[in-house]
Amino acid sequence: MYSFPEEGKAVKEILEEIYAMRKGDPSTEEGTILGTMITTPHDLAIKVMEVYAASTLSDPYIFENAYKIEREVISMISDLLGGSDIVGSFTSGGSEANMLGAYMLRKISGKKYVIAPKTAHFSFIKAENLGIIRLKFAEVDEKLRVVPESVERLIDDDTAGIIGVAVNTDAGTVDPIEELAEIAQQYDLHIYVDAALGGLLLPFMKILGRKIPRFDFSLERVVGIGVDPHKFGLVPPPAGMFLFREWLSDKIAFEAPYYIGGKQFTLTSTRPAWPPIAFWAVINALGKRGFVRLTEKCLRVTSYARKRIEEEGFEVPIEPETIIVNIRVKNPRKVAMDLKRKHGISIGFSQRLSSLRLVVMPHVNEEAIERLLTSLKKVLDERE
Ligand SMILES: Cc1ncc(COP(=O)(O)O)c(C=O)c1O
Repeated sequence: MYSFPEEGKAVKEILEEIYAMRKGDPSTEEGTILGTMITTPHDLAIKVMEVYAASTLSDPYIFENAYKIEREVISMISDLLGGSDIVGSFTSGGSEANMLGAYMLRKISGKKYVIAPKTAHFSFIKAENLGIIRLKFAEVDEKLRVVPESVERLIDDDTAGIIGVAVNTDAGTVDPIEELAEIAQQYDLHIYVDAALGGLLLPFMKILGRKIPRFDFSLERVVGIGVDPHKFGLVPPPAGMFLFREWLSDKIAFEAPYYIGGKQFTLTSTRPAWPPIAFWAVINALGKRGFVRLTEKCLRVTSYARKRIEEEGFEVPIEPETIIVNIRVKNPRKVAMDLKRKHGISIGFSQRLSSLRLVVMPHVNEEAIERLLTSLKKVLDERE
């Protein structure tokens, strides 16, 4: 139990405490954070956080320049994702965007049952627990991509819409959204795509010549997409985006009675202004070419990881298609805990694949992979 201090302390003393505390936690630069989708933020993004610390986006009419930049970023990302009639808002991340996407499908249809791949992110289950939608789970194939026939079989008179994922959390593979769009067209349904990670990765992979299935607003039935600048956009969290077709604005607006703008499109009411501006700064600093280079580097390290994992005698259960590599182990949660406790390495895991899950974000390099493999072998040897 802590009590609220009676008196304030000197700033210097407090800062010393904070720096000491920070030293005890890992940092992305050390190469020990290997299972999350955050990465080292761009310096400019950190600068913007400070400059715009006290500005908000709760109402377009308070910090008008900040709001204008949010519009500009939304327009740029919509363009990247094949859309011209797109609006949207920055959110606290992919989970909030997914909840809004689920809400959107319900509001379009007036129905509650949304069909999602059974590997969809747990934020959709949160949406169900909060009463926003009800879920029906469709089967996935051996690469954890949703099976279109399974989606079609679940459609009935109560279906509100379809969720597709590009790319999924466990394996980094992409649902066949184009085929889902054909089904949606046939049954007059709409699609929300969770592109929390893929939205800022797949377009650059495509520029690099990789074969990327269509997943974005170029498909008419895709009416909303969630994308996270705090994943592959080099912006510190919380920074997500919920993008949707303009014709939906009136349907999914929430009343904001004490603001001049009078409406909002997010779950949170007071939104920080720095995330879109930080992302705008990063986009302008890197340009498409910079993001392509970043993507290329991550794909190269991913191939390295995949090769080295197999050379060390481990199984990679699903061929990596993006930047996620799985390493088959027994009791993955326990192994992940041992790696953290004994070697200071944080890695994700997938119960479904019985694997450790490595996410090759921009801060992950070959040395980090080697350290992981050495530590993993030690952990497994000790357990035998
Ligand atoms: C596919 C996908 N969607 C949504 C999310 C949730 O994003 P956030 O943690 O920003 O809420 C994640 C997180 O890893 C994800 O992988």
